Amino acid sequence: MMARGDDWRRKGYSVAAMRELARRELPRPVFDFADGGAEDERTLRRNETSFGDVRLVPRPLDGSPARDLSLDLFGRRLSMPLMIGPTGLSGLFWPRGEIAAARAASRAGTAFCLSHGSVCTLEELAADGPSPRWMQVFIYRDRGFTEELTRRAQAAGYDALVLTLDNQLLGSRERDLRNGFAIPPRFRPADMLGMALRLRWLMRMRPELPRITFGNYVRPGQPDDIASLAGRMASLLDPAMSWADVAWLRTIWRGPLLLKGVLHPAEAARAVEEGVDGIIVSNHGGRQLDGAVSSIEALPTVAGAVGGRIPVLLDGGVRRGADVVKALALGAACCLVGRPQLWGLAVAGEEGVAHVLDIYRREIDRTMGLLGARRLAELTPDILFPG
Ligand SMILES: Cc1cc2nc3c(=O)[nH]c(=O)nc-3n(C[C@H](O)[C@H](O)[C@H](O)COP(=O)(O)O)c2cc1C
Repeated sequence: MMARGDDWRRKGYSVAAMRELARRELPRPVFDFADGGAEDERTLRRNETSFGDVRLVPRPLDGSPARDLSLDLFGRRLSMPLMIGPTGLSGLFWPRGEIAAARAASRAGTAFCLSHGSVCTLEELAADGPSPRWMQVFIYRDRGFTEELTRRAQAAGYDALVLTLDNQLLGSRERDLRNGFAIPPRFRPADMLGMALRLRWLMRMRPELPRITFGNYVRPGQPDDIASLAGRMASLLDPAMSWADVAWLRTIWRGPLLLKGVLHPAEAARAVEEGVDGIIVSNHGGRQLDGAVSSIEALPTVAGAVGGRIPVLLDGGVRRGADVVKALALGAACCLVGRPQLWGLAVAGEEGVAHVLDIYRREIDRTMGLLGARRLAELTPDILFPG
């Protein structure tokens, strides 16, 4: 029962199949913490279904025996247009989860973005050496803390800084309310039967659970348990964030600065004027503003406003290589994934994430082959069915 061979590789033949394996591996409240979205989960669903409305028009006679999936992004070569986005508490899915996922990204030749809310500290990840590595931060009421995280990321050699815009108030995740999911996880008697069926996770995580905390927030002399830190973090977020903060951060961070959570074309155009280096079209995976436009629906107008001046990236609902191809055709330079890498982690740690990244690589390559596209530069609106 506990032993685990390589059977998961065969069963996890797609990202959706990996999600199903993760669902069987994790206690329900933990699975739902990652899988769920805000309120009625309309935006969460729409992120995925909107990709179905974009259709591809192949030209097989333009094909080639091999496709080149590589690209330059902020001066670094990536092997494919897909990277891992920031997810807090990845260490709840696998011991030292962030480090496992970052290693898998590095092995795959792509980038990893660490969340502010990682279990490991940003310095621990840097010491492990995966690269390229990006760091995600928020604007806090105490701007000094934003500055501190930024300077620590600079000192630890992070390649890019991501300022997330859409999390200054916390969205209402009703699955968590239903499941009584709390930080740290407390399991109710009703969950115990489910837990007994999730023995592998329990055995792996039992020694970790008391130590799980938000590593970057730990301060000497202050309570470092996760419940205290979670409360402090929520009270630190500042909904009164403004463009002045972006300009201020620009003066502190020397290197590529990206804004994550841009959906409005006017905000995208302003970002370029403010000297931002990249934009991530995102609605936080449908976890914040329910009813927000899906990422792929928002992309064309945002990309139009940016007009190729800086790279536009996208996350939210990317579950197939074909989704990546569609996003690139609509103006994205690269996509990020959140939940899929957590499913990989839950199933098999670093190997599981490597497997998920490999699924995307094979699907992007196959999609391009079937389309008759040799290079990413050929993924333009020309490959899309009009209207
Ligand atoms: C469990 C979980 C934790 C997340 N934590 C963060 C975070 O700390 N910072 C952040 O900018 N985005 C966070 N996100 C949002 C992701 O970066 C990303 O925008 C979203 O997951 C993309 O959608 P996808 O899951 O459909 O790929 C989180 C998402 C999940 C599922």
